[in-house]
Amino acid sequence: MSERVSMNPAWTGPDLAAPKPDTGEVAAFHASLPGFSPTPLVELPRLAAGLGLRRLFVKHERERLGLPSFKVVGAAWAVNRAIAERLDASVPPRFAATAEAARSLPAGTTLTTATDGNHGRAVAHLARLLGLACRIYVPEGMAPGRVAAIEAEGASVVPVEGPYDDAVRRSAADAREDARHLLVSDTSWPGYETIPSAVVAGYGTIFREARAQLAEATCEDAGFALAVVPAGVGAVASAAVRHLADGHGCDVVTAEPLGADCVRRSLAAGRLVTVPGPHESIMAGLNCGEVSRVAWPVLRRGVRAAVAVSDDEARTAMRRLAAEGVASGASGAAGIAGLAVLAQEGFLPAGGGPVLVLGTEGVTDPGAYRSIVVG
Ligand SMILES: Cc1ncc(COP(=O)(O)O)c(C=O)c1O
Repeated sequence: MSERVSMNPAWTGPDLAAPKPDTGEVAAFHASLPGFSPTPLVELPRLAAGLGLRRLFVKHERERLGLPSFKVVGAAWAVNRAIAERLDASVPPRFAATAEAARSLPAGTTLTTATDGNHGRAVAHLARLLGLACRIYVPEGMAPGRVAAIEAEGASVVPVEGPYDDAVRRSAADAREDARHLLVSDTSWPGYETIPSAVVAGYGTIFREARAQLAEATCEDAGFALAVVPAGVGAVASAAVRHLADGHGCDVVTAEPLGADCVRRSLAAGRLVTVPGPHESIMAGLNCGEVSRVAWPVLRRGVRAAVAVSDDEARTAMRRLAAEGVASGASGAAGIAGLAVLAQEGFLPAGGGPVLVLGTEGVTDPGAYRSIVVG
């Protein structure tokens, strides 16, 4: 076994018999969001040639609803679900109905979550669209640009001493104490599962789009052979397993920062492993030390391998992507960095079927982007 790449000993091969998740309802909801449109699937011929791959694509989540990451796709469906739950009503099928439901919430209802950046910004954006108050818990020391972006949505930001996982605990504790708080977390723990599961269901739209775009680009429906997905708490990677591996046979590999590789360590150990902070990677969205409980069983059976990448490798990946016209932050480039490590360490079969890398963000931190890519 390599120091950087862990094969998952519990992987049993894709569950070809698993029922395909029904994304029709979620896709119709997303389509009803004002200004919602699919992100591009961009082919990377030079990178593919350098890695000995036949075809390589990045699903470039550069912009969703005016925000520079994929996160709002999960947050929107989860906020919709959380509002329905609070009102004890059925889940609104379209965003206009969500807005109407939000108006009947008790005065002072406040959307809350912990974040290491993008999820909180997405929840704050939705709160603004729905006219709700919003409170976002962040690890102390978060980049000022990220805090400012959340505040620009009208949310109040609560800095919490310690890493992201402590911000998660504080947001949950405050929500237990204050009935006005409506917690929309993208990670889960025992007893808090419905909303994080809705976040994962929301992410299904990304992979549904990617499969359709691949079929259009290749004029065949063979699907992806390999997908490399950045992982923080593992929620979006679990969606990749459900939408690309189950019933389709794609190998899903996670990519995380060295030092915050909770998915990789948990898979290698066969049980949940916490990686203590501080987590100081430039891959800010991936600075998580604990795997989401709802993601874990799916990751355990369905992820083929997990890779840990260094900040320098993420920087190199950002520059490689920029050279192919893809402007991405460090977390978003982790998949390309992971793919390069797989190639270096001999885990990548040459040729083969199409490879997907999930590029989870555009330029979320313009200052950092300029200094890394422009120099
Ligand atoms: C840009 C970016 N990429 C990837 C991730 C990881 O997603 P997950 O926490 O679902 O593993 C995040 C999470 O915040 C993110 O912001």
